This record gives sequence, structure tokens and C-alpha cells, in this order.
Amino acid sequence: MEKQKNIGKDTKVDWIENSAKQARVSLGGVSSCLCTIYHNGKAKIMIIDNFETPEKYRNQGYGQKLMKEVIDFAKTQDIDSVELQVNKDNGVAIKLYEKNKFEKTDKYYYRLILNKWTI
Ligand SMILES: CC(C)(COP(=O)(O)OP(=O)(O)OC[C@H]1O[C@@H](n2cnc3c(N)ncnc32)[C@H](O)[C@@H]1OP(=O)(O)O)[C@@H](O)C(=O)NCCC(=O)NCCS
Repeated sequence: MEKQKNIGKDTKVDWIENSAKQARVSLGGVSSCLCTIYHNGKAKIMIIDNFETPEKYRNQGYGQKLMKEVIDFAKTQDIDSVELQVNKDNGVAIKLYEKNKFEKTDKYYYRLILNKWTI
């Protein structure tokens, strides 16, 4: 097993092989998103990241089409919950998600940025 540098010698890290899967789902080479699927011990979760339509193709229905395809894809994978984070000021994205029955949760996300150049 790979040795972990810079963490306590009494700390044990057990890599869980193949515990998460990732797929990029794209629509006709236009809109796309990254789907990360994992099981958290209770439920099978799919996280959507980087949901995006390139600027010149926006407001032409591609985002809505992609979301429908991604939800259909989640159903084929027996996903229990599809989750994403969205900036509260991103009205267009929020409208798209709510139209597709996403509900705001009371989960609060905090983040610790360890490498600001990659965010
Ligand atoms: C959010 C985003 C993916 C939507 O993609 P899109 O291809 O433009 O979406 P659609 O054309 O299917 O439009 C979805 C809805 O938003 C509305 N909409 C799209 N662009 C809009 C705009 N500039 N102003 C107002 N409404 C807009 C559409 O009218 C549509 O609403 P309707 O279903 O009531 O008609 C796209 O704006 C984007 O890539 N934004 C930057 C990245 C981003 O913020 N991603 C979300 C991260 S959480």
C-alpha cells in the first residue's frame, strides 16, 4: 500500500478500491457535466459538478436536455439521490434545477481550500 507522507504515524488510511466512479455526460458535444457516483454506506449518491453549456449555446434548451439525460442516466445506475451545489446568486441554474424537481436541502457546505490555484 502507498505510504502517506506528512500525516501522523498512528493514523491509518485504508484506500477503498473502486469505491467511486466518475463519468462525463455530454450532449452532442455542447453541454456537459461530471457525475461522481459513490455509496456512502446508506445510499447510492450521484454528485453533479461542472454542469455547463458553452456561452454561445446557452438559452437554447441544451441545459434542460442534459439534465433530463443525466437524471435518466442516474436511474439506470440505481442512484438514490442526485446532489449538487449551486451558488445562491446563480438564478438561471437554480431555476433549471428546481424545474427538474431538485429541492433545496438544509445541508450547509463549508470548504477548506488547500490549493487556491485549482479552484
Ligand atoms: C446554467 C446553464 C448550464 C444553463 O444552460 P442552458 O443550456 O442555457 O439552459 P437552457 O437553455 O436549457 O435553459 C434553462 C432555463 O434557463 C433559462 N435561461 C437560460 N439562460 C438564461 C438567461 N441568460 N437569462 C434568463 N433565463 C435563462 C431558460 O429560459 C430556461 O428556462 P425555461 O425552462 O423556463 O424556459 C448555463 O447557463 C451555464 O453553463 N452557466 C454557467 C455555468 C453554471 O453556472 N453552471 C451551473 C453550476 S451549479
